[in-house]
Amino acid sequence: MISESTTTRRIVAALHRREFTKTASYFLLLILSYYLGYLSALIKIPSYHHATTTKVNSPPQTTDTDHYLFQTRCADPIPSQLFHQTILDRIFNGSSPYKDFPQPHIKPLLRYKRIRGWGSTGLVFKNLIHKVKPKTIIEIGTFLGASALHMAELTQQLGLQTQILCIDDFRGWPGLSTRFQDIKMVNGDTMLLYQFMQNVVHVNATERVIFLPFSTGSTLETLCEWGIFADLIEVDAGHDFHSAWSDINRAYKLLRPGGVIFGHDYFTAADNRGVRRAVNMFARVNGLRVKADGQHWVLDTV
Ligand SMILES: C[S@@+](CC[C@H](N)C(=O)[O-])C[C@H]1O[C@@H](n2cnc3c(N)ncnc32)[C@H](O)[C@@H]1O
Repeated sequence: MISESTTTRRIVAALHRREFTKTASYFLLLILSYYLGYLSALIKIPSYHHATTTKVNSPPQTTDTDHYLFQTRCADPIPSQLFHQTILDRIFNGSSPYKDFPQPHIKPLLRYKRIRGWGSTGLVFKNLIHKVKPKTIIEIGTFLGASALHMAELTQQLGLQTQILCIDDFRGWPGLSTRFQDIKMVNGDTMLLYQFMQNVVHVNATERVIFLPFSTGSTLETLCEWGIFADLIEVDAGHDFHSAWSDINRAYKLLRPGGVIFGHDYFTAADNRGVRRAVNMFARVNGLRVKADGQHWVLDTV
């Protein structure tokens, strides 16, 4: 390999042969290197604009798209009678989280019953539960349990032994405490989960309503790995496009054949119609037809 100094000496010698003085040759070389260096810096240093936006000029390679595709295969289904115990074993060390609830130090922080929801008792719940007669319902976004407890009541009225699995991190959203001042906060920890549990205990639904207090993304992936599927899935967690899109994609693969997935806020403009855009795009990509039922969207698998 030719070293840089050898190259420099050769260029200087060549320039010298063409009757440049040695000093002028070095000077010319200096200008040339500066110019080339400047050009290469322009190519290498990204501007802040480039750093914050991703511009794709060529179609993504198959390996690139793999990263943002959702996993479509889950474990083989386990029998639905095992769901409750599987969740107790794998999340709550084998015993019910309602055991000895509420603890004496928590009790004074809770209201006997505090329910608040949004469209949580709409006719869509009755319509779908009567149609599907679900053994298992997964609710994505539970809050204080208004819709979950409404579904528990409806399934009980029909004499169904339905298990309702509620997925929620029970953190609400940033700013929850200003809007729900009666939900206490202890050292920055909102009592939303405990108030939800209290609501479940209040209507004696602890055998039918179990909760998975984690992020929707990781929990849906985990249910897929454990082979836990549902006949009816309600999506009502994050309402921005990306949250709704990922929840719907992850939830859909947990739907049993013949099942129905539905969700609230199809018409809400608050989140730039994030839910609506996600539902419509999902339906288009999967060749499904979106039905509206009140404020809710519904996607059938049949
Ligand atoms: C609109 S509320 C659900 C209301 C409930 N379905 C009802 O009708 O009563 C939305 C809930 O989703 C939960 N949530 C939002 N994003 C979440 C996420 N990424 N993981 C877990 N929970 C989330 C919040 O904590 C909140 O309790």
